Amino acid sequence: MTDEQREYLKGFAFGVDARREKAGMAKLFESDADESATRVHNHPDALQLDAQERTEAAGEKLVPEEMAKRDAPPLDMWPTIRANAAEGTVPKGTEVFRYKYHGLFYTAPTQDAFMCRLRAPNGHFTGRQAIGIADVADEHAGGYAHVTTRANLQIREIHPHSTDQVLLKLQDLGIITRGAGADNVRNITGDPLAGIDPQAFFDTRPLCREMHYHLINTRALYGLPRKFNIAFNGGGLVRGVSDTNDIDFSAVIKPDGEVGFQVSIGGIPGHDDFAQATSWVVTPGQCVPVADAILRVYAGRGCRSDRKKARMKYVLDEMGNDAFMDAVLDLLAFQPDQFAPGDLRTPPYPSADAHVGIHAQDDDAHYWIGVWTPFGYCSSDQLRGLGQIADTDGDGLVRLTVWQNAMIGGIPGERLETVKAALAALGLEYDVSTFRAGMVACTGNVGCKFSNTNTKRDAGALADYLEKHLNLDYPLNIHVTGCPNSCAQHKVADIGLLGTKVEPEDEDDEPLEGYHLYVGGGVGEKRGLGEKITGPLTTDSVIPLIAEVLNVYHDNRLGPQESFRDFVGRSGTAVFTTAIE
Ligand code: HEM
Ligand code: SF4
Repeated sequence: MTDEQREYLKGFAFGVDARREKAGMAKLFESDADESATRVHNHPDALQLDAQERTEAAGEKLVPEEMAKRDAPPLDMWPTIRANAAEGTVPKGTEVFRYKYHGLFYTAPTQDAFMCRLRAPNGHFTGRQAIGIADVADEHAGGYAHVTTRANLQIREIHPHSTDQVLLKLQDLGIITRGAGADNVRNITGDPLAGIDPQAFFDTRPLCREMHYHLINTRALYGLPRKFNIAFNGGGLVRGVSDTNDIDFSAVIKPDGEVGFQVSIGGIPGHDDFAQATSWVVTPGQCVPVADAILRVYAGRGCRSDRKKARMKYVLDEMGNDAFMDAVLDLLAFQPDQFAPGDLRTPPYPSADAHVGIHAQDDDAHYWIGVWTPFGYCSSDQLRGLGQIADTDGDGLVRLTVWQNAMIGGIPGERLETVKAALAALGLEYDVSTFRAGMVACTGNVGCKFSNTNTKRDAGALADYLEKHLNLDYPLNIHVTGCPNSCAQHKVADIGLLGTKVEPEDEDDEPLEGYHLYVGGGVGEKRGLGEKITGPLTTDSVIPLIAEVLNVYHDNRLGPQESFRDFVGRSGTAVFTTAIE
């Protein structure tokens, strides 16, 4: 260490301790200059603390969330969670934000309760875990869970007395919720059918598992400036939407015939960007170290003085992808292979409807069933039932998808009828129209204070209307999101609805619920951002317009082989605006 570095670290340690002392907290580094220099450097939160220090040294003010992370490390607040639960009190001030590091979201004012977001590497829970989650939802929460757009589950309406019990019981089941919210890497997604997928290049399960545990067990990686998403795309028939993630590892076949993972970075459709491919193609074993290095570069350089500019995209915008990857390379002990896109073989397109319905596996002896959970809603009885089916008649996994539904695989042909009967008894449908299966909706105003609309109710009304008035024989994705935060990612859907308030005719009346209407978004090979064609309109008036939009497509497409997305790409959006005017 140079004298200059030693001086810097000494000053840094002094600054941290002075602030901690002012806040009535124990010093971290004490005053021994030489030792403190080493200890600062070795402090488990050094990545975050250094970055914060640099922000302040540059004359910028840290956002309150950064100060909260520094002054009261969220990972160390277990005693607070216990004490609050014992008294039945709710978190106050920055505790609300820090609770999210444990997967706990205080959902006031919409519900005076908590939501717990779990983690399901690859979107998979074991049957036993699903049964256990259902028990927790019954005993401590509202008796249901939501399947989320990251192939995950959320338990809602948890009583303030029960927060610690929920976490403990989940941990008993092997479910760790740390880092499920706030400035952390969220649930790691993969191919839902991994292991039984007929077209995948690679089974994403071990990679998701490895990444999941690396994150859970690496304290430095809880020190990011903002949230972060990582996805593995094994090239399966059913996939996640990997190019909407900050890091997208997508399986390709290299010229030597081996499978590699092409690294793409910076996906964030809420800010109008998909992940951009780099020239790096890494081995399966290199994925986690590469992600670790990307996270460290991001943690060191991401903005900590403005939450709106804190996602990795902004670091990439400033540095450029090549310079960013050079910085990543500096942290690696190996040199990843690089290829031109033309040298790589990519997998066939995913299927638009393999995530619902009954499908034969490659061996023709087993089947998978994709079950529709209405916009993610799954009662505890249904979840328990799915867990039991997975354990007794399936391969032991409840496989969730980013389309907010569940799949069970490995069902022997002779057990199919039994499973179908069990699903019917649970009130779970698998034989739904392709467009109903391709609809997702965010939490909406029943559980989210930001929402302008009741998204799940409106998605249901839209599905009912379209089924009644149209014969939709083609795959379609409709995403309904309640506010511009875009949790349901309305801009990457064929049809996207963005919730808003609509001015009433009589200004003395309350504002009405309504939507802006987007068309033409897509992901993967068909990536593109939807364009707004009209809005704001009330919910009642926007629903029939969507039917008109679909009629325009149906009547003018080149044939059934031309998808909605391709049609919009060819004809533009004016054809719709003219028709609905
Ligand atoms: C009470 C507030 C909120 C609720 C109930 C909520 C709900 C959700 C849920 C359930 C998911 C799927 C998450 C998963 O499985 O990991 C999600 C994802 C997402 N959320 Fe939120 N969210 C809230 C606030 C926000 C805010 C404030 C932002 C942006 C500033 C945001 C942006 C997103 C985006 C872009 C996604 C898409 C998937 C991703 O990139 O992680 N959300 N949200
Ligand atoms: S998109 Fe908006 S309304 Fe919907 S869950 Fe996210 S923050 Fe809430």
